[in-house]
Amino acid sequence: MLIRDETPGDIPAIGPLITEAMRLLPQATGGEAAIVERLRMAGALTLSLVAEDGGRVVGYLAASAARIGPQDGWGLIGPLAVLPARHRQGIGSALMAEALHRLLTTSRGAALVGDPGYYRRFGFRAFPGFGVAGCPPEVVQALPFDGNVPRGELIHHPAFGLDQTA
Ligand SMILES: CC(C)(COP(=O)(O)OP(=O)(O)OC[C@H]1O[C@@H](n2cnc3c(N)ncnc32)[C@H](O)[C@@H]1OP(=O)(O)O)[C@@H](O)C(=O)NCCC(=O)NCCS
Repeated sequence: MLIRDETPGDIPAIGPLITEAMRLLPQATGGEAAIVERLRMAGALTLSLVAEDGGRVVGYLAASAARIGPQDGWGLIGPLAVLPARHRQGIGSALMAEALHRLLTTSRGAALVGDPGYYRRFGFRAFPGFGVAGCPPEVVQALPFDGNVPRGELIHHPAFGLDQTA
């Protein structure tokens, strides 16, 4: 399996992969593939990583720039998606390891919204006073690289379509 940047030839496979994986997630909106499309169109994909195996795209991870309160320089990870038939083979972990490795040199930390049961293994955790309006606080998590304590609202790129004051 190879983790690499997306190429134009991968793009037709990425949307359906995201949609298929997210179908398993009760809180998914079905709009996750469109978010990636909008981020790509806006030139806002800081990372767009694919996991390729046997010539097929089997996993995907996006990252975009985010702000926490007044502080910019955060890398927001998501969506992360692996083809259901390929779950529990380390693909999600390999995508995450590469993303964190890359963000380490460009960001003050990584942040995401997701299941803490999965993301805590990578070092993500919730912080008091850190969140996204309307989300349970435990699902909004960060991994600061510089000992910095995230405080305030996690402001996503407008492509996510959240009603956040910029
Ligand atoms: C979450 C996801 C990306 C994990 O990908 P993966 O390639 O299966 O992950 P890995 O093989 O690296 O790790 C699998 C481990 O994570 C665990 N795991 C997966 N989802 C979990 C969750 N929601 N809570 C707790 N553990 C979870 C598995 O049980 C497995 O544990 P084990 O190694 O002890 O057996 C994949 O399941 C997926 O695409 N799910 C649907 C979309 C989604 O939930 N995306 C993330 C939220 S945006």
